[in-house]
Amino acid sequence: MNVEPNPDVLKLLQNHRSIRKFRDQKISDPDLVNIITSAQAAPSSSHGQSYSIIGVTDPIRKKKLAEYAGSQPQVESCSHFLVFCADLYRLEKIALQQGVNMTAAIESTEMFMVATIDAALVAQNAAIAAEALGLGIVYTGGLRNHPYEVAQLLELPKRVYPVFGMCIGYPGEIPDQKPRLPLEAIYFENKYKRFEEVNKHLHQYDEIMRAYYLNRTHGIRSETWSETMTNKRKRPRRMNMKSFLSEQGFPLA
Ligand SMILES: Cc1cc2nc3c(=O)[nH]c(=O)nc-3n(C[C@H](O)[C@H](O)[C@H](O)COP(=O)(O)O)c2cc1C
Repeated sequence: MNVEPNPDVLKLLQNHRSIRKFRDQKISDPDLVNIITSAQAAPSSSHGQSYSIIGVTDPIRKKKLAEYAGSQPQVESCSHFLVFCADLYRLEKIALQQGVNMTAAIESTEMFMVATIDAALVAQNAAIAAEALGLGIVYTGGLRNHPYEVAQLLELPKRVYPVFGMCIGYPGEIPDQKPRLPLEAIYFENKYKRFEEVNKHLHQYDEIMRAYYLNRTHGIRSETWSETMTNKRKRPRRMNMKSFLSEQGFPLA
């Protein structure tokens, strides 16, 4: 069987940009169902589908989540805020129903990774589906600033944790696209390329990003990508994540 090429999908993927300003317009139920159905079409490890999606539309809950995410207004102003959860609760329960206790497996680092990867793949499918419908999205990793509060608000049982959220809605702006690392810096043939071999490409990219930031901030921010990343990442963050995960039923054995 031949599958027809679909260059429109490539165009869509390569046109992505995060949207942080949304129009005050709800997405329709059929569009939402289309997004979730497309998300579900993502592959999952052993077909375990170890994720759940919580669609938050209640303004009070959205307001709280916006706060928990570090005061990110788009969480409140978007049409639907989806929380993508890694979910081993369902698997544990169906095993128990069959008289099988799978605590040791569920508590392994491997299963934590399986559930996290499943949730991430589903989320990116949702993102592409939303963009295909003319909607905009932005991920919200900021939810992990207050993981305990988020888990409590969403009434997450043990074995479920919020990986990230995603704002979806009608775009209120179309920002410039953010340039990506050059292909030479991230794609290697047959074996890994050490830093020294790709560094010149990183230097070139640094200048591209400096120009991007300067343009975006009307000449105020003159910073390379290397500087931005080092500044952002030099201090450990969210150091309560390990204990949160453990208490949430992911002790990472
Ligand atoms: C897992 C994840 C978490 C993110 N969390 C946030 C966030 O909390 N707030 C935000 O404004 N953007 C967030 N982003 C969006 C990134 O900042 C954005 O994708 C990146 O800067 C590239 O820009 P682009 O998506 O416009 O190409 C997140 C992206 C990912 C993949």
